[in-house]
Formats: sequence, structure tokens, C-alpha cells
Amino acid sequence: MKKCPFILFLFLFLCILTVKAQIKITHGPYLYDMSTDGVTVVWTTDKPSLSWIELAPDGSDSFYQQERPKYYETTAGRKRANQTLHRIRINGLNPGTTYRYRIFSQEVTAWTNHNYVTYGSVASSNVYSKKPLAFTTFAEKKDEVSFLVLNDIHGRADFMKDLCKDVSFKSLDFVALNGDMANSLESEEQMFTDFIDASVEMYASEIPIVYTRGNHETRGVFADEMIKYFPTRDGHFYQMFSIGDVCFLVLDGGEDKPDNDIEYSGIADFDRYREEQAKWLEKCVQTEEFKKAKYRIVLLHIPPTVGTWHGNYHLQQTVMPILNNSNIDIMFSGHTHRYSFNEPNDKAKFPILVNDNQCYILCKVDGNKIVVEVVGLDNKNKKQFEFPAK
Ligand SMILES: [Fe+2]
Repeated sequence: MKKCPFILFLFLFLCILTVKAQIKITHGPYLYDMSTDGVTVVWTTDKPSLSWIELAPDGSDSFYQQERPKYYETTAGRKRANQTLHRIRINGLNPGTTYRYRIFSQEVTAWTNHNYVTYGSVASSNVYSKKPLAFTTFAEKKDEVSFLVLNDIHGRADFMKDLCKDVSFKSLDFVALNGDMANSLESEEQMFTDFIDASVEMYASEIPIVYTRGNHETRGVFADEMIKYFPTRDGHFYQMFSIGDVCFLVLDGGEDKPDNDIEYSGIADFDRYREEQAKWLEKCVQTEEFKKAKYRIVLLHIPPTVGTWHGNYHLQQTVMPILNNSNIDIMFSGHTHRYSFNEPNDKAKFPILVNDNQCYILCKVDGNKIVVEVVGLDNKNKKQFEFPAK
């Protein structure tokens, strides 16, 4: 009986805590699937919510001086209001233009039936006293295109931050995560801890991520969820996009061993996937966008001609015949954890630069040349290449 007052007090205390717990933004926001006319902004909250973005032109006026347009994630005319993952696409923007933005999530406290939604508190990653975030859409014309490539981080988020401590992210058009950023995907929390949170801390709220799936990210109980966190307009990891005169192909190498390897427990179907991707690639290289580009750069985690595993072999059978006829300037890969620069040969008619797991690649493309720097921790092991325009 003596315990009763204490239990009552504890109960009341927990009730107060529950009532007062405000909704929080737990991860992000990060920019993905940037184009010349739009971008997707991704973040998560600790409670289901109705979320939106407010957008303003670049400028020094107060963000709240006037009402700003709001953007929501919708499905067939309905705003998504009962989820913790928020992926909001903003379309209809102007090329090469800077916009300011703020994100908001209003908690859905109850939604028992029909459309009777009850709302609670609002969270924003950009409180009123802070400067709004900003992004710049990809340009249609640009004198210099620059980007950074990271790969094979395998969950070493602190190492990645250390490696990039001197990088001037604001000068980049995007950061390419070229596969195996995680060792496997077992949960949302692990995926964020392995590389996304660190990316947000460094750049990803303002500089877009371009994500190439690595074979390790095809592994794990959470692996099939990953596409939700890197949503593309057509639902595929493989993509094509352009900035100025440079056209980029982002390819997905799938797994490295045969689909029937015992390690995959019967769930791999990557031969068919690579064949489907090759059909998509055939169409890409026929487009005006691809043909008119001055430079063509490929990002692919597994270097098709470096190594003799099944994944390499099957990429040689599927995507390489197409790429070899498409005037590719350079391919950036990882996977081997060993640096190699592979001159064009009978299997690849373009150079393949394989970055190791200790360096980043900084690439700058202008009207005359492609300049590639490979840089290690504390600016060590620096290598530089120049490829003149063809
Ligand atoms: Fe790999």
C-alpha cells in the first residue's frame, strides 16, 4: 500500500511527459534527385505528421515577410499525413536558380477513421531565428561543373567526416555516393548512422546527393526499403541527368556473385535486373540529351573490367557493349578497396578510375577539360589527371 503514492506520482509524471513531448525532426533534411526544374527533399520525424516545405526566392528579405508557396507529398490528390518518412518533390523550378526553403512537420495526434485528423505541435529544422536553408537547381548552361565522389565508406561516418574536413562543399554541384556507404542495411537507424546523418551534417541539406547503389546495400533485412529514402521520379536507382554540357549516367551493378550463391539465400535476381537496366540504358544513349552532351560520365560501383567475379562479367555482357559505343569520357567506380586507374582497352573503350576506400575524388569539368583529383586523409596521396575535351 505504501508504494501507491509513488506509483501514482510516476504515472502522472509519465502522463505529463507524454503530453508535452513535442514532435521532432529526427533525420535530414537532405536533397535528392535534383534536376534543372526540381528537387526532392527527404527527412524523418519521430511521430506521424503532415509535412510541407515553404519555398522562397533567393534574397536577404525576411523569409516570413510574405506567405510562401507550400509543397506537400501527395498521392493522387491527397496529402500524406500519417507517416514519419517525408519525401517532398518540388517541381516547376527554374534552372540554375537558388531558392531558400524551410521544412515543417505537424504531428497527427489522432486519425481513427474517415478524414477526422487531429493535429498537434509543429516541428521545423529551421527555427525562426535561423537562416533558411538554400539549394540551387542544376543549370542548363554552366562554365564549370564540379562534384565529389565518395565510396566504400562501409559505415565509417566519422572517417568520412575527417576525410572531407577541408572540402568546400558549397562550391560543388553535387556529391556522388558511389556505393557501399553501408556494410549492409538492417534498420532505418543504422542506415542514417552509417552515412546519411554525417552527409546532412556536412552538406546534404543544401548540396544534393547523387546515390549509386553498391552491392553491400543490396544486403540486409532493410535493403528493400532503401529506395524509399532515395526516391527517384521513375522509381529506379539507375538514372540519367545533366548539368550544363555534362551528362551523367548512374548505374546499379547489383551483387558481385552469381544469383544462386549460397550467401544470398535464394533472394537474388540481379542478372535479370542488369538486363532490364541495359534496356533502359539503350534508350538513354539514344536521347537528344545524351547525344548533344559534350561530356559523358558514368558512376557505377562495381568496375566492370576490374575483377573476374560474376558481377564484373555480367556487366561486361549487359551494359558495357552499350557504353563502349556511346563515347563515354570516364567511369568512376569503387568496390575493390584498391586504387587503380585503368586505361581504355579492348573491354572498356574509356578510362575507369577505381577509387579506394580511403580517398575521395574531386572532379571539375569545364569547356576544355575534365580535371580529376584523388585525395586522401589530410590531403595525402594526392593524384591528379586531366582529360582534354574530345
Ligand atoms: Fe562493393
